[in-house]
Amino acid sequence: MAILFQEETKLFTIHTAHTTYQMKVDEFGYLLHLYYGDRTEGSMEYLLTFVDRGFSGNPYEAGSARVYSMDALPQEYPVQGTGDYRSPALIVKNGDGAYSVDLRYQGYRILDGKYSLPGLPAAYETEAEAGAQTLEIAMEDSVSGLLVTLLYGVLPERDVITRAVRIENRGEKTVKLLKVQSACLDFVHGNFDLLMFYGRHAMERTLQRTAVAHGAQVIGSRRGTSSHQYNPFVILADQETTETHGLCYGMSFVYSGPFKAEAEKDQFEQTRISMGLQDELFACPLAPGETFYAPEVLLSCSSQGLGQLSRNFHKVIRHNLCRGEYKTAPRPVLINNWEATYFDFNGEKIYEIAKEAVGLGVEMLVLDDGWFGKRDSDMTGLGDWIVNEKKLGGTLASLAERINGLGMKFGLWVEPEMVSEDSDLYRAHPDWAFAVPGKKPVLGRSQLVLDFSRSEVVDHIYGQISRLLDTVPIGYLKWDMNRSISDVWSATAGADSQGMVMYRYVLGLYDFLERICQNYPHVLIEGCSGGGGRFDAGMLYYTPQIWCSDNTDAIDRLRIQYGTSFGYPVSAVGAHVSACPNHQNGRITPMETRGCVALSGSFGYELDLKKISQAEKNYVRKQIQEFHELWDVIHNGDYYRLTDPCRQGLDGEVAAWMFVTEDKKEALVNAVTLDYHGNPVSAYIRLQGLDPAAIYRDLETGKRYPGAALMCGGIPLPALGGEYLSWTLRLIRE
Ligand code: GLA
Repeated sequence: MAILFQEETKLFTIHTAHTTYQMKVDEFGYLLHLYYGDRTEGSMEYLLTFVDRGFSGNPYEAGSARVYSMDALPQEYPVQGTGDYRSPALIVKNGDGAYSVDLRYQGYRILDGKYSLPGLPAAYETEAEAGAQTLEIAMEDSVSGLLVTLLYGVLPERDVITRAVRIENRGEKTVKLLKVQSACLDFVHGNFDLLMFYGRHAMERTLQRTAVAHGAQVIGSRRGTSSHQYNPFVILADQETTETHGLCYGMSFVYSGPFKAEAEKDQFEQTRISMGLQDELFACPLAPGETFYAPEVLLSCSSQGLGQLSRNFHKVIRHNLCRGEYKTAPRPVLINNWEATYFDFNGEKIYEIAKEAVGLGVEMLVLDDGWFGKRDSDMTGLGDWIVNEKKLGGTLASLAERINGLGMKFGLWVEPEMVSEDSDLYRAHPDWAFAVPGKKPVLGRSQLVLDFSRSEVVDHIYGQISRLLDTVPIGYLKWDMNRSISDVWSATAGADSQGMVMYRYVLGLYDFLERICQNYPHVLIEGCSGGGGRFDAGMLYYTPQIWCSDNTDAIDRLRIQYGTSFGYPVSAVGAHVSACPNHQNGRITPMETRGCVALSGSFGYELDLKKISQAEKNYVRKQIQEFHELWDVIHNGDYYRLTDPCRQGLDGEVAAWMFVTEDKKEALVNAVTLDYHGNPVSAYIRLQGLDPAAIYRDLETGKRYPGAALMCGGIPLPALGGEYLSWTLRLIRE
């Protein structure tokens, strides 16, 4: 059993294969957090210390027991109003105007299987690793009648515990939820670092590691999306923790809108970290009888370093969150016309690109932006999902069928959440775009955002897109979203509910995507928001891959994909070989290196294949062959980061990473030189994840090495002779 409850001590214990999570209902009905870490047995209540601390007040019932304070005790779901002055997970304004909530234990349920959340993405149990359970702990504010149920999902074999919150108003007055975090972890001791992933458009998910200090460190998004700037995945790690050793905890928000993560060291050197909805622009009026759900957070803990923590997330996301036919299947090798043509194409040009590509082994053509409405630049046309037959020289169906005739699938770019002012849709329904009354809205890429909190708006766009899916043989949709959201105001929400519009927008987006997943199960959807502006576990529930970045330069991509790998599997990472000089940064890299980097993702091409040399075409053919040969080890294997390509100095001169099949029979090591000097110092790479007792053979040279030797002594990187060159080692266990 993964979840245990001891009636006498009121102790809740959750076990996964390698970890234990424990909490306890105390004598006053508060729920105290006791432990999360390596698997252990027995009560951890002895960890609590009780000290009379000045200016840390005591619950009334504690009477003269001044040693009891919510300001110092570790809590499971801290709320505002109980004398805990650290960052609360829940802030409520009651019907009488009082800012106060006091949650006491009411009861629990342990259920077989993993809970799901209405309208929201959530991890699910698979048949292969059954044994999932749900724990519900109900906490009540007896004055307001608010019932807060903490939901815990346990996927024991994944070493993952999920958390979400259900809030019901069982009282008589409407209350306002002003902040609702989904998960919080309190640690009574420890010196931690916060690892977070910051960035910008075309340079996403750069790792920053800083010590958790006094005062809160807050990251989040107020952009309507999870954002390029801060990813909703964070790690709390012991300061000594490395890739291969030490304790660390990951939190991944299964949500694609604004979020907030806070890490704080308190006055007693205790650490609190929480994650959930962004509270700015959020206020949820909850009338009697109404229920609100806070989205899910995936939690995992590893005492084996960051690498193992990442592998836990890779597996849970790939197997328990992604869905659909392509969840664990090889995705078609695609060619996308964006960087080949931008808006300048016609049907014939697209067909020619497809013809050239199919001869090299490419399996799908994706027609990017510019095929619809009045759309020859990014200034106009969004919202009118009507095929521009003049530009295509025929119907979209006939183009798609011609491409199918070549033996290729056909994919299409859409950006359903957006509208251009110069569009028939906007002219007909100006109030469908977000704008604050009386004010001109902020433009982003010259476009406005449709109010997806309104079901009629979602239905209308869904009608247009589904008509396309019904009449054109479309095997893939690239779902784009190209601006940050602002001016969030909905014409139909009413003055009191504007604080719910952003949340309902995200639910509208999910509703749309869910309908496509259900009604068009053969369509593979790739998420995108100017590359990786909405790269999160929420989107991955609907779109098993996401265009990782608009930056296609192999060297920048190494770093972006490195950062991404901390929280997300390679199958989620859309990665293409593009032209050189690179369109984003002008860098020139060899075709082999571009292939090596893109192969560690959901693979494709994005360049005019007519413009490359015969030698490069031969590489393309070879890469596609490699994709088929290596797909299993790359996508089903375990992923290991071997170096940090963002580091300065010698260590950062080589980017190296590897994959090992679960049975440890096969491994693939990749390395790329980032910097190269005269009379170069030999670079050594220590491998990971091999069977130490086995002998591995280098498939190319036939050389044999003990697994332990490769992991302890490492292997010298051959002198490649310059920067941006790649090296691949394939090992087979004998
Ligand atoms: C975004 C995407 C690109 C491309 C363009 C088209 O920037 O990330 O890949 O589809 O839009 O306008």
